[in-house]
Amino acid sequence: MEKTAELILDGKTYKLPIVEGTEQERAIDISSLRNQTGYITLDDGYGNTGSCKSQITFIDGEKGILRYRGIPIEELAEKSTFIEVAHLIIMGKLPNNTELRQFSDLLTQNELLDEAMKHHFEGFPAHAHPMAILSAMINAASCFHPELLTDQFRDSFVVQAARLLAKVRTIAAFAYRKSRGLPAIYPNPDLKYTANFLHMMFSLPNRDYELKPEVVKALDLIFLLHADHEQNCSTATVRMVASSRANLFASAAAGVCALWGPLHGGANQAVLEMLQEIHKAGDDGSRFIAAAKDKNSGKRLMGFGHRVYKNYDPRAKIIKKACDEVLTKLHINDPLLDIAKHLEEAALRDPYFVERKLYPNVDFYSGIIMRAIGIPVEMFTVMFAIGRMPGWIANYKEVMEDPTRIYRPRQIYTGATLNHYSSVKDRK
Ligand code: SDX
Repeated sequence: MEKTAELILDGKTYKLPIVEGTEQERAIDISSLRNQTGYITLDDGYGNTGSCKSQITFIDGEKGILRYRGIPIEELAEKSTFIEVAHLIIMGKLPNNTELRQFSDLLTQNELLDEAMKHHFEGFPAHAHPMAILSAMINAASCFHPELLTDQFRDSFVVQAARLLAKVRTIAAFAYRKSRGLPAIYPNPDLKYTANFLHMMFSLPNRDYELKPEVVKALDLIFLLHADHEQNCSTATVRMVASSRANLFASAAAGVCALWGPLHGGANQAVLEMLQEIHKAGDDGSRFIAAAKDKNSGKRLMGFGHRVYKNYDPRAKIIKKACDEVLTKLHINDPLLDIAKHLEEAALRDPYFVERKLYPNVDFYSGIIMRAIGIPVEMFTVMFAIGRMPGWIANYKEVMEDPTRIYRPRQIYTGATLNHYSSVKDRK
């Protein structure tokens, strides 16, 4: 017997179907609401609105649970790698040895950019933000793959996925090198994904970068922890663009733009800048926390709070632990880490944050590790984008495989009622 919800409107009772997910999440299906009642719903920021059904990632915000294809993030962080997790998220299963080798080979085969793309990098000013370059160059890369614009690629989606995943890393590294006036370092086909990225970022033409295992593992963990996260702002953007049947690269480029905002992926850069501001002011964090609680200050405790997590973000716990380990192994004593820890302790005791269930999120500690690795702050959100690419690709695939109608939300109009044109001589 189908479960339904009853809605009483203008004296009439309407029945709306209840949808239940595999983790007992429940929704009222309102797809017939306007036809039945003439009403639509309104939900500022979509805080109560499900845009789709998905089988990729599950989050329980109250319990601080995050699972990729059912596997807890804690297990994957401890036992897996970014590329294994990328296969899990995109293809729906952990790869066996053959699949892992094939996927890894595809990434190697697609790691180079078309040489003509180097001219685009020359066109950017040295101070260009790498997120602008990343979004632009993902679309530029698609121009070298016209098959993206036809249906034929559908039977080789994994090739397009690997192509995008491989090239974003090269684009990111080239953007960094360009910003520092350094020659581009090409990918080394003998290196695995994350090691290759570090090689392209920090090697010199006459001396290879020393790949310390703890550094490679720390960055690989950061990519892995960012790999997907339900219908966050950027993933929802990717699905929106995919629903118009735009190609994978165009959808991912749109995701990069949405991620850039300081309330979303740009928060990791904003956290580091916040910690540096506190450090520079000689503040132990108390003054900043007071400002973050004051609505008129225009300041927020960046890296804190989350639309879904009303408990500790499990990724933040994992990154905080990795922070201590990496900085110890690298013999780095970063005062910003001490400030971050003090901020966390103070906020978690402060009624303002406790009452609003504001906890550290994935962005609060990630920048400390990236800084220790030597990644510049303006590249932090690019690291987030590289990590999130498997999630965007998997969500794009879900939209393409399900004959989804184009996403087209409604609105409630609150503007001028019927009005008429007036000639310029009559206007005030
Ligand atoms: C990511 O969605 C995802 O899954 C995102 C992400 C992913 O993996 O894709 O997890 C990645 O984007 C993490 C979030 C990174 N952003 C930040 O750290 C920026 C700082 N945080 C916030 O701006 C905020 O918490 C958001 C944007 C994360 C969530 O915003 P919401 O859900 O819209 O919450 P809100 O702005 O309505 O805040 C509710 C209350 C408000 O106070 P009141 O009006 O109730 O008095 O909490 C306050 C807010 O002022 N508040 C904060 C705060 N976050 C919320 N006050 C001070 N500092 C903060 N950080």
